[in-house]
Amino acid sequence: MIVLGIETSCDETAAALVRDDRAILAELVLSQLEEHRPFGGVVPEIAARSHLEHVDRLVAGVMARAGLSFAELDAVAATGGPGLIGGVMVGVMTAKAIALVAGKPFLAVNHLEGHALTARLTESIAFPYLLLLVSGGHCQLLAVLGVGAYRRLGTTIDDAAGEAFDKVAKMLGLGYPGGPAVQRAAQTGDPARFALPRPMKGRPGCDFSFSGLKNAVRLLVEGLPRPLGERDAADVAAGFQAAVAESVAERTRRAIALFRERWPEGRHLVVAGGVAANTALRQALTATAAEAGMEFLAPPLALCTDNAAMIAWAGIERLRLCLTDPLDFAPRPRWPLDPGAPKARGAGVKA
Ligand code: KG4
Ligand code: ZN
Repeated sequence: MIVLGIETSCDETAAALVRDDRAILAELVLSQLEEHRPFGGVVPEIAARSHLEHVDRLVAGVMARAGLSFAELDAVAATGGPGLIGGVMVGVMTAKAIALVAGKPFLAVNHLEGHALTARLTESIAFPYLLLLVSGGHCQLLAVLGVGAYRRLGTTIDDAAGEAFDKVAKMLGLGYPGGPAVQRAAQTGDPARFALPRPMKGRPGCDFSFSGLKNAVRLLVEGLPRPLGERDAADVAAGFQAAVAESVAERTRRAIALFRERWPEGRHLVVAGGVAANTALRQALTATAAEAGMEFLAPPLALCTDNAAMIAWAGIERLRLCLTDPLDFAPRPRWPLDPGAPKARGAGVKA
């Protein structure tokens, strides 16, 4: 079984061909980083136009690399949401057109399900497992029970973790995207020099919050001499990173306890999303998992950040269960994985 996957929900245009024996036959990712850099963040209209300009070429590129024709595909999958609607429309339209012309099934994949099932593409792990999804747009703890079956144990009540990294990088004048820049600066910094809050620590439940920490960093930076010296910036970056890592690890520890109670057969803690690239966070999560006797799995970086192989793979998982979609599927800017979860409350809540 071979599925073509297309990803266009944020600022990466991507296409991939994946086979049901977990082989990635070809994949291409085009980052729009340079187009958005002057604006310090993703501009939805620029993103949509750029996806439109490049998606056909990327699809043709993976088909050529794998030496396949559309007739040899078993289905065409595209991210159907959640994400920036203009971009999602481009990917969905492209996939529908190919499916229609080649007479193949179409699959609208939830982007978050793509992240959630990646661990089954890279390792042959069984359901259920506990997933920590930490990206620029999301910060959630999910029990992954099966394809299409998720229980949200925690989510952010304000910013996503990656968003906080990006905003702190801006305050420190470190540029965009912020996560890698903060990590780089933190390498030479002293995490103990400034006392920063550990958001949500000790609170019941497994929700996250980053806006209080972000404001604490803002106040701290405002009180430092200008222009900000390299040492000061490094110490703030290190302090912030340590606070995020500690807070996320503490929330995850609570989620593990909850998960264990309800699904004792689950053995894996899986991390996904761009922030999973952060070394300090990985170290904290490795320790948390080890303490709890869980196995910690972090897919390779290229599969943690947005890519199309995860969409093709989720497509395969859905196709196996005959969960195909009609050609009148409408792109969904919002699409929670666990619609039954209580609404998160707080400023700026998106999901
Ligand atoms: O998953 P992703 O590529 O895109 C989505 O948001 O879906 O994640 C991007 C986010 C950005 O906020 C970026 O700053 C953050 O991941 N990030 C990092 C690191 N690398 C990327 N955050 C902290 N440390 C890193 N090394
Ligand atoms: Zn993503």
